[in-house]
Amino acid sequence: MADRIYYPNAELARTAYCNSVEQYKQMHEKSIKHPEEFWGEIAKQFYWETTSSNDKFFSYNFNRNDGDIFIKWMEGASTNISFNLLDKNVKCGNGDKIAFYWEGNDIEDYSRLTYRKLLEETCKFANVLKSKGVQKGDRVAIYMPMILELPIAMLACTRIGAVHSVIFAGYSSDSLAERVLDSKAKVLLTADGVWRGPKFLNLKSICDQAMAKVKSHDHKVESCIVVSHLRRVTSPPGSTSDGEKTKNINNGTTNGRSNEMNLSWDDDRDCWWHEEMEDAEASCYPVWVAAEDPLFILYTSGSTGKPKGVLHTTAGYLIYAATTFKYVFDYKPNDIYWCTADIGWITGHTYVVYGPLANAATSVLFEGTPFYPQNDRYWSVIEKYKVSQFYTAPTAIRSLMKFGDDLIKKYNLRSLKVLGSVGEPINSEAWLWFYNLIGQGKCSIADTFWQTETGGHVITPLPGATPMKPGSATFPFFGVLPELLDEDGKIIEGEGEGYLVFRQPWPGMMRSLYGNHERFETAYFDKFNGFYCTGDGARRDADGYFWVTGRIDDMLNVSGHLMSTAEVESVLAEHTAVAEAAVVSKPHPIKGQCLYCFITTNEGKNFDKQLQDELKKKIRERIGPFAQPDVVQHAPGLPKTRSGKIMRRILRKIAIGDRNVGDTSTLADESVVDLLFQLRPNA
Ligand code: WTA
Repeated sequence: MADRIYYPNAELARTAYCNSVEQYKQMHEKSIKHPEEFWGEIAKQFYWETTSSNDKFFSYNFNRNDGDIFIKWMEGASTNISFNLLDKNVKCGNGDKIAFYWEGNDIEDYSRLTYRKLLEETCKFANVLKSKGVQKGDRVAIYMPMILELPIAMLACTRIGAVHSVIFAGYSSDSLAERVLDSKAKVLLTADGVWRGPKFLNLKSICDQAMAKVKSHDHKVESCIVVSHLRRVTSPPGSTSDGEKTKNINNGTTNGRSNEMNLSWDDDRDCWWHEEMEDAEASCYPVWVAAEDPLFILYTSGSTGKPKGVLHTTAGYLIYAATTFKYVFDYKPNDIYWCTADIGWITGHTYVVYGPLANAATSVLFEGTPFYPQNDRYWSVIEKYKVSQFYTAPTAIRSLMKFGDDLIKKYNLRSLKVLGSVGEPINSEAWLWFYNLIGQGKCSIADTFWQTETGGHVITPLPGATPMKPGSATFPFFGVLPELLDEDGKIIEGEGEGYLVFRQPWPGMMRSLYGNHERFETAYFDKFNGFYCTGDGARRDADGYFWVTGRIDDMLNVSGHLMSTAEVESVLAEHTAVAEAAVVSKPHPIKGQCLYCFITTNEGKNFDKQLQDELKKKIRERIGPFAQPDVVQHAPGLPKTRSGKIMRRILRKIAIGDRNVGDTSTLADESVVDLLFQLRPNA
């Protein structure tokens, strides 16, 4: 049966920036054939201290035989991102426009920040960073909750040409330390703590542990600047900017819970954000940086287990973030946009901070969770701010579906125009629920496929133009040229399924892995010479629609968080009782995938409930709570080839209880398969 097609709402299409398939095709063709012209025109919206000449606008090499892989956009141009996102918007009359509505974990906690105030706070904090010795090119690690100080900190880095490295504040101290060490960050920014739903996280103490670990590896974090978030001694940024009532974040308690906590403090290193800001100057001349100067590092999982510091640079990222935001969400000046992603992930970088601000947008910045204080928090926030674009993840959608439709019907969601999905393939059931219940059958759904590495959306519908098929990310964005390759690297034409690769760079794509260009080349360009390899598989249907099917490497995607099996296995193997560990993914109704671990114990060690609990705890502590395995199974032996390679394909079958394991003749010991089936929990 042919897939049902959903057409964009006619009302939306009437005013959309791109409003027909023909227009999309024309624009896409131009972006591929004449990238200099296409992106050069877009670049004119921004301020450039110096410009790039046409012959230097775009150059690259994707072929390993022709020397180093490189990607350059707008060589010769120089600019400053914070200037374009803030000063320029204020100058254009958007000074009093709200940049962010901040919605706290507790319903009573909210605030707002205008573009003028955001500029002022950014400049002040840029001066604070300078006073700590931060200079152009220095790395600043940021481990913060979803509070207004987080975008301020990022923009302050861009103000002075420093490179930010945001580390998701759900990572453990080990993961934080590893990332701080890899980037040799000079300064670490954090908050005292945060409530996420009913759970408390002591961020400063996690930072203390991380900084101690970093020190034992001969690197010193010179300063740690701490936002007093739990006990605001000053008003949050924004609360004094515009006469309207805003509530202070809290007065020492959150929901009646006392936030008294023991903060350890190193006077030589630690300081409070608000104290440093008190006397900081409210203006700071921007440092003009070159188009290809680094903007930020963001770590993502690599299949070896060691995280990869994806490096994005300035000019190309700016124009790509701005353009994808504009076209994919069809953002119009009075719209209220909300992306629920944490800024600690790429979605938060590009579509909470850079893309929206580059379009002078008004966004919601949400600290909490969908389930707190009730399971209707998302819908209440949409109603409260009259959100017009709502961008979230399939895992969130699936977890909210189960609470029934009555929770949703209480709310007025008619302000919505465009819905977005990101992080993993969206199953058609979740797509239809999102479309019918949340979008009430009149919103387009942008199922955006992209990666930390791609910087912005690369395969996505445009809401006023693209007829949608539930579960398909549809067609490439401007500048993007996808191909499907078979195992031998041969291009698959027309209908088919294969490795998803890209033939040429678009402006927002990564430039390197921080400090390790060689790993960048081998990780992404070795498999198929001449192409950037995504690591995902995809299918193209008869109408040319792309359907991304998921990772084809040893990576798993739990609730939209990418992890490598190697990363988890190495943590498990550290336990004294563990001889060997093998981890595979298992489909999960809400998380998309979950972790299923096979454990071979050391001689004389028991596999019992206590060990299972200890291993789960270890993963939580070493990687983060989001990585906790769902199943830890005893495996007296693992299915290995004669050369010792673990056959994960078989383990995946065992995990789902599918006896149809296929060919086992290459196994050193075939009997192990039966044994593992018998030992399955609940088997
Ligand atoms: C997966 C997140 C299918 C994919 C922006 C990719 C998706 C990985 C989609 C990147 C989608 C993301 N459909 N799969 N719409 N979006 N993915 O780096 O496997 O955290 O390679 O970036 O998520 O995850 P990352």
